[in-house]
Amino acid sequence: MLKLKTINIALSPNNTWRDTLEAAAQLVLPWNWWSWRRGRAVVELETRFAEYHGVKRAWAVGSGREALYVILKSLNLKPGEEVILQSFTCMVVVNSIVWNRLKPVFCDIDESYNLSADALGAKITSKTRAVIVQHTFGIPAQLDKIRKICHERGLILIEDCAHALGADIAGRKVGTMGDFGFYSLGRSKVISAVSGGMIICNNEKYLSGLDSLYSKLADKPVSLILQNLLHPLICSIAKPTYGIWIGKLLMVIGQKLKLLSFEVTKAEKLGVSEGVFPTRMPNALAKLALIQFQLLDNFNKHRRYLSKIYFDGLKVGSNLSDPDKYTGAIYLRYPLLVTAARPLLLAAKNAGIILGDWYSTPVAPPDIDHVKSGYQNGENPSSEKVCLEIINLPTQQNISESDAERIINFLNNYVSN
Ligand SMILES: Cc1ncc(COP(=O)(O)O)c(C=O)c1O
Repeated sequence: MLKLKTINIALSPNNTWRDTLEAAAQLVLPWNWWSWRRGRAVVELETRFAEYHGVKRAWAVGSGREALYVILKSLNLKPGEEVILQSFTCMVVVNSIVWNRLKPVFCDIDESYNLSADALGAKITSKTRAVIVQHTFGIPAQLDKIRKICHERGLILIEDCAHALGADIAGRKVGTMGDFGFYSLGRSKVISAVSGGMIICNNEKYLSGLDSLYSKLADKPVSLILQNLLHPLICSIAKPTYGIWIGKLLMVIGQKLKLLSFEVTKAEKLGVSEGVFPTRMPNALAKLALIQFQLLDNFNKHRRYLSKIYFDGLKVGSNLSDPDKYTGAIYLRYPLLVTAARPLLLAAKNAGIILGDWYSTPVAPPDIDHVKSGYQNGENPSSEKVCLEIINLPTQQNISESDAERIINFLNNYVSN
């Protein structure tokens, strides 16, 4: 029988041949890498990013987690002051709060997988200084209500747009409605520079603080730039050969030999800061980001198109997000709930379909130091229930309509069997 190709939600989902060529060109031009050159690509990326969002300024940094760290640092908050965020999130977000000696306070989520505006009030104390609102999977949060609460209580609003570059609420881009917005240009995000992050800010009062901090940021170590440039090359071989194990082996060997970096390091899972942090984005990676930035609108159109196919075709699962309701959503991944996510994900994998499990524990991934994360079991019941039931379907450019149909058939049959 003809072996079907492996469908994989991960493994550098946005990588195109142009990224691979650019990365190869950069590898043979190492004098272009050093970020102390603050090359033209970084400046161009910041300018285009600010223009795209219609904001005063944008800053390019080493990753989304570094972007959040820099924002919080620029605020000069006192140790022990509190920052509210949703518990359905990633450990690296929590680390950026804790490493600023601030206290993360976890809030529950609503049906859009985002911070619940109804639950927020009860989490605010006299020590609360900021609220991070996350637009999970590229589905915009209930920002109007949350903004109103922040305004009334004098809290700083930070939009976590790591999943949501290009999403909007009634025509206004996410990231532009809070005091700050930050984005991830990581390998599994909306566009990829393999690793990268952006900060935007439209509030005059915070611009000089960010500027002065940014000017003191360290450069990304050369070893990390090298790993990031090798990533598109190795993935372009690993992806088509993943189903016959060669690709998987290549990825494992690449990581063992430290030719590839991890998205979340072991130290980060333990809540430990190591290496150079935070950093500026190097010119070599800004070049990759610029290539992908040109593709952004097409990527997001495709993501919405596939999401509509999933929404119309799936006869199983619950809490399916309706693209006609969330018109500004970009669906980095298409989420739905099933009764038992783990066995389903395993069966799908055995059928050559690797789906996503963001997030399978409150404060993901599951193998973090749960004491360090500060999340108490039982604290936020909706988040905990979603973590047991959630699966995410791929929406990236390399997933065709027929791939989406194959996923739909698998899911419809799996649950009816
Ligand atoms: C919701 C969310 N915010 C922020 C980040 C941090 O982005 P980055 O991986 O670029 O540091 C991530 C991903 O890790 C994320 O999932």
